[in-house]
Amino acid sequence: MDQDYNGFISRIKKMIGIDLSLYKEAQMKRRITSLRDKRGFKSFVLYYQALKQDDTLLNEFIDRLTINVSEFYRNPKRWEVLQEKVIQHLIKDKINLTIWSAACSTGEEPYSLAIMLKENFPEIRANILATDIDEKALDKAKQGIYKEQSLKDLPEIYKNKYFVQKNGLCYLDNHIKKMINFKKHNLLADRYPQNVDLIICRNVLIYFTDEAKQKIYTDFSNSLSQNGILFVGSTEQIFNPDNYDLSVFDTFFYKKDNFS
Ligand SMILES: C[S@@+](CC[C@H](N)C(=O)[O-])C[C@H]1O[C@@H](n2cnc3c(N)ncnc32)[C@H](O)[C@@H]1O
Repeated sequence: MDQDYNGFISRIKKMIGIDLSLYKEAQMKRRITSLRDKRGFKSFVLYYQALKQDDTLLNEFIDRLTINVSEFYRNPKRWEVLQEKVIQHLIKDKINLTIWSAACSTGEEPYSLAIMLKENFPEIRANILATDIDEKALDKAKQGIYKEQSLKDLPEIYKNKYFVQKNGLCYLDNHIKKMINFKKHNLLADRYPQNVDLIICRNVLIYFTDEAKQKIYTDFSNSLSQNGILFVGSTEQIFNPDNYDLSVFDTFFYKKDNFS
């Protein structure tokens, strides 16, 4: 057991509220150790003392923990299923939908959804909450300015209609920005919203331990309304979804079966 590292993660939990013991250890330790070494600290004790006193170092450290990679319409085939099958299912008997993009990073995911709904389901009244643990990512999301590369899978017609391109950057339309309510939320510690019709949580569960994942699936299931849908990332298939009152609705989509 590495006492230096274990002591470090328990101090970090007290300092910033992020429990690194719930993230897969090998991967997390490698990321943090390489940053610590780059900054010239020989132990985690010394690194922690520096983080306590230096906000720039601390921000860089938080940046390293949170992997913010995202893009519009990530895995486009899944977005087709979302549009053609999942949303149709959700609006069978209502037009008010509560949607939660959890671990939304810099906003590409909730904005993709807002554009898709506006274009294809103008009758839906969507209340879209988008959350992440990383405040810097959320600030970026609110700005809605993106590199062209992150729009590569967004249908061309949406790109032209909802973005203005200037100096190599793409500026998102204000109407779309206003459709999203961004908020800080830690999936491992905070209360989950209730009665959610669609939860999109993609490409973050892979970083967590199995124990943490099980807790999150249970909390997601409790969060979903009856017949609500959980949409996960393309490497994040849930084994034994019935343990959480979920069933496979389509590949990487799970339906809440009943209230337990
Ligand atoms: C790779 S991005 C995924 C972005 C988007 N969902 C997608 O699939 O394109 C992972 C995000 O998870 C966030 N994250 C990591 N740990 C978290 C936690 N405990 N609670 C909420 N968000 C977390 C990170 O800040 C990061 O923005």
